[in-house]
Amino acid sequence: MTPSLLDVLLFYAEAGCDEAIGDQPVDRTSLPAPAARPAATSLPADRGGPVAGARASAPVPAAGRPTPMPPAAAARAVLSAQEAESAASRAAAACNTIAELEAAIKAFDGCSLKATATNTVMARGNPAAPLMIIGEAPGRDEDAQGKPFVGESGQLLDRMLKAIGRDEDTVYISNILFWRPPGNRDPSTEEILACKPFIERLIALVRPKLIACAGKHAAATLLGTTQGITRIRGRWQEYRRDDLVIPAMPLLHPAYLLRQPGVKREAWHDMLMLAEKLAELER
Ligand code: URA
Repeated sequence: MTPSLLDVLLFYAEAGCDEAIGDQPVDRTSLPAPAARPAATSLPADRGGPVAGARASAPVPAAGRPTPMPPAAAARAVLSAQEAESAASRAAAACNTIAELEAAIKAFDGCSLKATATNTVMARGNPAAPLMIIGEAPGRDEDAQGKPFVGESGQLLDRMLKAIGRDEDTVYISNILFWRPPGNRDPSTEEILACKPFIERLIALVRPKLIACAGKHAAATLLGTTQGITRIRGRWQEYRRDDLVIPAMPLLHPAYLLRQPGVKREAWHDMLMLAEKLAELER
């Protein structure tokens, strides 16, 4: 039986192809083969910058923004997981300001998620705020606007923060990943490791008094915990890196709260713990 157009669209949506990324269709099968990836030794030694020629193979339409590469080409163009992590570490370590770090993240080509994203999403809020909230990855709205937590779960997060007297002036919000995983799938270990040096550098530059990790991936990546989020939420942990030791609270992710409103009671308990600790630190 021939599938209807609706069946085909539903199939695409379920596979994560849920938005148009160009004005014109692109016949990926007729694109020229991407240039061979240069050897790792040809990377700029100081910053671990983009691989020369890697994204240059992406076709550039008249409108200016490069058409995202077909997945196979993107996979060939990015660095190996280990190369990407070291390149990210070098690039992050060379940054002494948040603006430099944002530029370095935007220039970094070692995370394959960048090839399908519309925007790099770094942070919003006040970097001088005592509380830093770190989530997982941009979703569709964040990718479109270039800011973290601006979609439905971001709006819930804002309401939760408001309930403890916080807003964009008194929190700083980021994610462990700076590009949207297609179809909001879970990030891979390679993608997390390629971005980790940047979020660690952001924390080191901001030096918040408290960190809240929203969701299991943020908690596992930054706190090194192997326990599930429902076990460690609401219990103070520590974020430790170099000379930094910062109290950290794992939170249930707002997207989870939207799906399971019954656990909002636990989330409220955790927000009150955050509020109490902030009041203590600000006294
Ligand atoms: N979920 C996240 O973890 N981060 C965002 O920015 C949006 C949704």
